[in-house]
Amino acid sequence: MSLIEIRGLTHVYSQGTPFEKAAVRDLDLTLERGGTVGLIGHTGSGKSTLISHLNALLKPTAGTVLLDGEDIFASKASIRAARFRVGVVFQYPEYQLFEETVYADIAYGPKNLKLDTAEIDRRVREAAAFVGLDEGVFDRSPLELSGGQKRRAAIAGVLAMEPELLVLDEPTAGLDPAGREDLLEKLFAWREARDAAVLLVTHDMTIATRCDRLVVMAEGRIVLDGTPEAVFSHGDELASIGLELPEAANIARLLRDKGAALPPSLYTVDALAEAILALWGKGGAPC
Ligand SMILES: Nc1ncnc2c1ncn2[C@@H]1O[C@H](COP(=O)(O)OP(=O)(O)OP(=O)(O)O)[C@@H](O)[C@H]1O
Ligand SMILES: [Mg+2]
Repeated sequence: MSLIEIRGLTHVYSQGTPFEKAAVRDLDLTLERGGTVGLIGHTGSGKSTLISHLNALLKPTAGTVLLDGEDIFASKASIRAARFRVGVVFQYPEYQLFEETVYADIAYGPKNLKLDTAEIDRRVREAAAFVGLDEGVFDRSPLELSGGQKRRAAIAGVLAMEPELLVLDEPTAGLDPAGREDLLEKLFAWREARDAAVLLVTHDMTIATRCDRLVVMAEGRIVLDGTPEAVFSHGDELASIGLELPEAANIARLLRDKGAALPPSLYTVDALAEAILALWGKGGAPC
């Protein structure tokens, strides 16, 4: 059985008012255990609305969200289970730190799970280590942390819940390139170590190439769903909904225009570098 099955999900904001907005429309999506799924789409396409249903923060206007085959809105207990099993890190989560100390903030979720103190402590330390947050800051107020540390503390608080599905809405937004890479690597390492599933909302196509599967949204619907290679082979369709190919693909296109005999489907820097070196090996510069 799939971990999550979304069937015919529709979400309409401000229904029955002049501001009515159908943000998600009759959408079906299945998420399996394990692996990283990238969710991409132009601004306003409905990504954040969709993910807010996965931990029962938003109630569908129509349709259902099944977690292990059970409707997450079936009962108070199923809503509570969804909140614990699906961890959602919203955009700029650092604004949601509110406890007196960093430790208490990370411990907030596990405490709600009514775990014993030793288990809470283990989880807090492990989650902090995963995101690269030094234990030296545990007794400090979250307000004293740097922007990057705050982001890490907020993410650690969700990791400490040990969710089966971790959903992150633009987790690297606003970070510099080095901080972005570091955080991504840590998240991928966490996913592997726990064998959890990750759903990553991103605007960054280079990050998208690193996912196992890509789901593309436009106007509240899923328009493409497949491996990054399969999705990026629809360059024209992506362009029509305001999405660009990863930088490596654009460079490959420019080199092809200059006469380089590069193979198709080059979407990552590694694949592009390998293809260029292969051309070099055949004698002479690629173009
Ligand atoms: N609370 C709300 N009330 C009314 N309309 C909303 C609300 N939240 C979002 N919307 C609208 O619903 C649509 C989908 O918004 P959503 O935030 O889900 O998109 P998104 O894909 O996450 O965009 P972004 O990439 O900018 O984060 C947009 O047209 C947005 O203006
Ligand atoms: Mg959003």
